[in-house]
Amino acid sequence: MKRILSGIQPSGQLHIGNYFGMMKTMIDYMQNADLYVFIVDLHALTTVHDRDRLRRGTLESAADFMALGLDPGRCTFWVQSDVPEVCELMWVLSTQTSMGLLERCHSYKDKIAKGIAPSHGLFAYPVLMAADILLYQSEVVPVGKDQKQHLEVARDIAIRFNNIYGETFIVPEPAINENTAIVPGLDGQKMSKSYGNTIPIFLAEKPLRKCVMSIRTDSTPVEEPKNPDTCNLFALLKLFASPGRLAEIRDLYVNGGAAYGYIKQELFELIRDYFAAAREKKKDLLANQDYLREVLKKGADRARAKAATTMDIVRDRVGLKY
Ligand code: ADP
Ligand code: TRP
Repeated sequence: MKRILSGIQPSGQLHIGNYFGMMKTMIDYMQNADLYVFIVDLHALTTVHDRDRLRRGTLESAADFMALGLDPGRCTFWVQSDVPEVCELMWVLSTQTSMGLLERCHSYKDKIAKGIAPSHGLFAYPVLMAADILLYQSEVVPVGKDQKQHLEVARDIAIRFNNIYGETFIVPEPAINENTAIVPGLDGQKMSKSYGNTIPIFLAEKPLRKCVMSIRTDSTPVEEPKNPDTCNLFALLKLFASPGRLAEIRDLYVNGGAAYGYIKQELFELIRDYFAAAREKKKDLLANQDYLREVLKKGADRARAKAATTMDIVRDRVGLKY
């Protein structure tokens, strides 16, 4: 069985881009992989500087994942900071990572362009992510397209380390689902917590309807033909509508007759129903936070055992064992 690993930041409400870009893929892998899933609270510290928000976000993201179908009995599920070895590995890897490699990362540039403070942590973010991946000897890392470059950085770091110190790390492969690689947000840009354009998975009915109704569309009149392939409403509908219904709506776009208001109402109902059971399950999980903490601690113990094995080899390879 392949070891498959991915993590998610607890930095805001999880949205349908996170779900289709990463969470669903991970949940689907549960049957036939040695699955590692974790909440990356150390990464979230680069943007969340409010203690209560981070604590709440961490537990909520764990509840979200479990409500959506992740079974912690069939994978290793934990919170990143509960395995402190990752910070030690990050330091070792930092000493092997060129400034140029990190300077080329778009994500850092995008984040500072959006007004996030350019801290050292934000700049070194991809090295911590490489440490996450290499510490557990991950073979496959499912992520959305926006994380592809970070995966390349992790691969570069692993290859360089192996060349210098001898075979130590598995070189990971990204797994990107091309159909859902970039889920568009309300404004047509990539849906992202940091762009304020998301459809959160667990919104209550009223705010969810309001959110879906605010999807930006053009002002082409109903009867005129429209291009479904450039319309973000249609791209979102594709994720939820049945193939038959989608073909009917495509026809309305191409031949005229597609009314955005009606399509939005239909999309709202589809999203509401798709996540209805998960919404209830999340409420139950959050009502029992001690149980959630216990599950996460058990996962951390398992992850830590694996981390200890890798770190033992790494310390030896670089000369930290004397
Ligand atoms: P955000 O951009 O909202 O802060 P994260 O960076 O925490 O999201 O991403 C968590 C996971 O969800 C990553 O694997 C990322 O690639 C995926 N993801 C985030 N936004 C999208 C999107 N709009 N489309 C597809 N995948 C996404
Ligand atoms: N950087 C990823 C994101 O923002 C989250 C992440 C941290 C991650 N460590 C990881 C993803 C390791 C996959 C593997 O989405």
